[in-house]
Amino acid sequence: MAETINQGGVRRGHRAAVFDLDGVLVDTAVHHRAAWQKISAEYGFDLSAETAEATKGVGRFEALDLVMRSAGIKLSESERMTAAARKNEYYLDLIADISPAELLPGAVSTLQSLDSLGVRIALASGSKNAGGILDRTGIRDFFDAVVDGTVVAAPKPDPAVFLEAARRVGVSPADSVVFEDAAAGVEGANRAGCTTVGIGLPAVLSAARLVAPSLLEVDWTAFFGPAGV
Ligand code: G6P
Ligand code: MG
Repeated sequence: MAETINQGGVRRGHRAAVFDLDGVLVDTAVHHRAAWQKISAEYGFDLSAETAEATKGVGRFEALDLVMRSAGIKLSESERMTAAARKNEYYLDLIADISPAELLPGAVSTLQSLDSLGVRIALASGSKNAGGILDRTGIRDFFDAVVDGTVVAAPKPDPAVFLEAARRVGVSPADSVVFEDAAAGVEGANRAGCTTVGIGLPAVLSAARLVAPSLLEVDWTAFFGPAGV
């Protein structure tokens, strides 16, 4: 059964919502995984579920290194470049027809509700492909700031992408709530000093303040309602 945990201490009065993209708003984590599986198969091994989970949220090259290390393979620098580029080609093929149909449950309703409350909305994604996905799924206009892998080079769990997202919407990290599906993202958001909401399994996202199976189950009024109510 889907489980929602609330580790308590949640307060109202937050002023910004900072969203990860892949696996939180759009169902693209499965495509990243499929592309890594294809690369793994080319090198003669199966991508384990554990390694696939570990690639979530981290940068393209960091993910490649995790995948290869899981099979005891050491690539030369030029092989790394080639394999990372090929993974991206596979990923781009898989998302070539992406549309609003790939938006995850609760994504649009949450963005609409927060927007109508006057909450500042930012994207904090490590992907260099985030912009195209925002456009093709039709949600770009909800965002007051878009910070992605073309803006911040340091991959999660580095807090930089979250700090920059909060800075661009003019809200302190302490008043920002981050929605993340990856352990690396939760760690980065915690290091940035944000309140973190994990979207997925509590076993993977236990460092988050609250974990819910999807955005649909998140009671966002607990974070964004007027302070003191
Ligand atoms: C996001 C995804 C990761 C991906 C990273 C880089 O964080 O969760 O799975 O490795 O972006 O994405 P890119 O599209 O630039 O390869
Ligand atoms: Mg993600």
